[in-house]
Amino acid sequence: MKKEKNLPVVLVVDDEPAVLESLTAILEEEFTVSTARSGKEALEKIAAEQVRLVFLDIALPDMDGMQVLRKIKEYDKNLSVIMATATDSARRAVEAMQSGACNYITKPFDMEEVITVARKALEQDRLIREVIYLRWQREEAGFDNIIGRSPKIREVFEIIEKVSQTNATVLIFGESGTGKELIARAIHFRGPRKQKPFIPINCAAIPENLLESELFGHEKGAFTDATSQKLGMFELADEGTLFLDEISGLRLDVQANLLRALEEKEIRRLGGNKLIKVDVRIISATNTDLKSAANSEKFREDLYYRLNVVPVNLPALRERREDIPLLVEYFLKRYNQAFRKDIVGLTKEAMDCLLEYDWPGNVRELKNIIERLAALKDGKLITAKDLPFDLFIKGSIEKKLGGGGALKQASKDFEKQYIEGVLERVSGNQTKAARLLGIHRNALFNKMKSMGLKK
Ligand SMILES: Nc1ncnc2c1ncn2[C@@H]1O[C@H](COP(=O)(O)OP(=O)(O)OP(=O)(O)O)[C@@H](O)[C@H]1O
Ligand SMILES: [Mg+2]
Repeated sequence: MKKEKNLPVVLVVDDEPAVLESLTAILEEEFTVSTARSGKEALEKIAAEQVRLVFLDIALPDMDGMQVLRKIKEYDKNLSVIMATATDSARRAVEAMQSGACNYITKPFDMEEVITVARKALEQDRLIREVIYLRWQREEAGFDNIIGRSPKIREVFEIIEKVSQTNATVLIFGESGTGKELIARAIHFRGPRKQKPFIPINCAAIPENLLESELFGHEKGAFTDATSQKLGMFELADEGTLFLDEISGLRLDVQANLLRALEEKEIRRLGGNKLIKVDVRIISATNTDLKSAANSEKFREDLYYRLNVVPVNLPALRERREDIPLLVEYFLKRYNQAFRKDIVGLTKEAMDCLLEYDWPGNVRELKNIIERLAALKDGKLITAKDLPFDLFIKGSIEKKLGGGGALKQASKDFEKQYIEGVLERVSGNQTKAARLLGIHRNALFNKMKSMGLKK
């Protein structure tokens, strides 16, 4: 096979040397041509080489061409195959198309036609790949996977929509688990840099002494462990986006270097002296109040303003409770699929608990809870009793308070529910329950009796 760089590989399958030779001659002008003389050889080449198009003779010595076609399609249903048939076998050509061939040519070949059908098939192949890629990207970064209809989250969607079309530097504020990384990805993948890398780096998770070399790379010998040259995130993200997560954790001297890189659009690897141009879009995120960190000189004020060109404030989940049912539905659907379950939803009581809970871990906490519930539940409906204990209790207290009522009644109700809950966790074992409650077994027995709780 004569291999030229970047030309798509076309495999020609025919047992007649003369046919192989003439097809190769004409196709070689535009493609890299590979040849096979039997069905078996063709299948081997397809498995071994990056074939993009096959010209397949319908009459081969070892296998019927139709059989080879079916095997090719089994191996890769998107691989384009053009069948070569005798002029008088129109019926077989139709049959081939039905089995997945994308076109056919008849012998003797018209060389113009050979080139035209090859171009057409490869163009179609390119489009199919593009559609697959775009679909995948949309799934990854579209709004389809960012759930929410509350006014607060819609405001965020609007900013994303506008800002993704620019190269503006974005700073995302939000409590833990509110979706900061999800939003950063959406901004990148909806914008003009979407074909280029999106590189996340968690500034708080990387040991301080390594962070500079992670960001800017290093030359061989820059420090004791630098046994070879290494590219930093800035260079890897060139023409793409660098996502600086938990930016507030950055040490002051690293902040200075980061600021320089942003202003000059150039970096220097550690231990190197060459300045390297980089074109990187910066999106950063923080879950602490960076402004007050800047005021108290833990964070450079100039860097703060350099990063905070477009601020995005992600609301906590408790500030947009109306999105909770949507998120529950979305995660249930995903985990139903993942665990092959058929859970249809939550009882009203259970949903009320979720709606009243405070969600300190925001969407991530909700997602994890739904995952756990879906994994453990065998029935179709999740009830309040299935919920984690604190969520269940918290939900019911809030409900009592919401309904108003005397403190005495409320605390009585709470006590009863609490004891009931504990008893359930220990499958009715009163000794264990008493120990958990921190009261004597007899005291528990009396309480149960006065509350009308069954043993
Ligand atoms: N609106 C949303 N719709 C669907 N899934 C969401 C949404 N918001 C967050 N998630 C999911 O919740 C999880 C946490 O989101 P993400 O990692 O983006 O949060 P974060 O703000 O970066 O959290 P941390 O501060 O802990 O790094 C992810 O699995 C994400 O896909
Ligand atoms: Mg994050």
